[in-house]
Amino acid sequence: MEPRKKVLSGIQPTGHMHYGNYFGAVKNWVDLQEKYDCVYCVVDYHAMTMPYNPKKLAESSWDLVFNLLAVGVRPEYLFIQSLVPEHAELCWIFNCFTSYGLLTRMTQFKDKSAQSQEESGEGFISAGLFDYPVLQAADILIYRADYVPIGKDQEQHLELTRNIAQRFNNQVGKEYFVLPEPLYTEVLKVRSTADPERKMSKSLGPKHYINVFEEENRLRKQVRSAVTDTGDTPAGQMSPGVENLFLLLKAAGKTEAHASLMDTYQAGNLKYVDLKEAVADALVELSTAFRARKTELLANKKDVKNQIRASSAEIRKRAQETVREVKELTGLMNVRI
Ligand code: TRP
Repeated sequence: MEPRKKVLSGIQPTGHMHYGNYFGAVKNWVDLQEKYDCVYCVVDYHAMTMPYNPKKLAESSWDLVFNLLAVGVRPEYLFIQSLVPEHAELCWIFNCFTSYGLLTRMTQFKDKSAQSQEESGEGFISAGLFDYPVLQAADILIYRADYVPIGKDQEQHLELTRNIAQRFNNQVGKEYFVLPEPLYTEVLKVRSTADPERKMSKSLGPKHYINVFEEENRLRKQVRSAVTDTGDTPAGQMSPGVENLFLLLKAAGKTEAHASLMDTYQAGNLKYVDLKEAVADALVELSTAFRARKTELLANKKDVKNQIRASSAEIRKRAQETVREVKELTGLMNVRI
């Protein structure tokens, strides 16, 4: 049997996990585990590139680990980036194979540097932020990933990763790194139920996102108060709020309810309360299972942490092998241990 293809992805330890994150990315991670050899990384080194609180970083990383496990990411596929310091070492080496000119053209740097200046209160932009895409290239190439599941926003970073791999291969005279391919999967853009013109996001405030671990009453209340029709939508078109509710229903796997409510909508007979009720039922079902799983994990906090430390150590072996070979290929010394 052919070995399974490798998938790598990373996620930043920031904020709560809401249904926008879940349906937009994390659920996809869970589904990919069925078909691929996956490596999923909580990228705490990346989280330092923006103004941040050193006293809170470790806690945020662990919170994210528990959230990911609770929604179905397998522990053996999950690790924390700084437990594999070889990522930072490979990043340094890659810096010397990265075109400065290409880095200056990264659009995410432009957005994030403006945000960093504002958040820091002193106009600060770290060199780490500028170097962010090179660390991301190290995350991907250190495991010789075949595929990286991405949305449009990460396309440029993956292109740079391929460029670094190619330049490295040319310079050392060996096809050492495989060029990773993007894995375009259907990404669902969940909108805020309070303002369906905008993406579901934590930064807009508590009304604008639904936590995946929300308890039943609050969840139902939030769905019930979802904006449906504001009267601005041209006749014959579905309003963004209604569209968003249908999307949530389908994303939650309720295809039959989705189809029958859609028929009712098309016949012009849909009562929004019925749609909301169906969405609330579907999300309550998901959230109840997620919460139960999270409670169980939190009851065994120590063991779970140890399990992730162990999986990080296991994954680290693969990273160490790559770095050992890279050092050899680039004329650096390997420490004997
Ligand atoms: N830059 C990614 C984001 O903001 C996170 C990330 C870090 C990542 N390293 C990665 C994604 C490697 C894919 C592969 O979402």
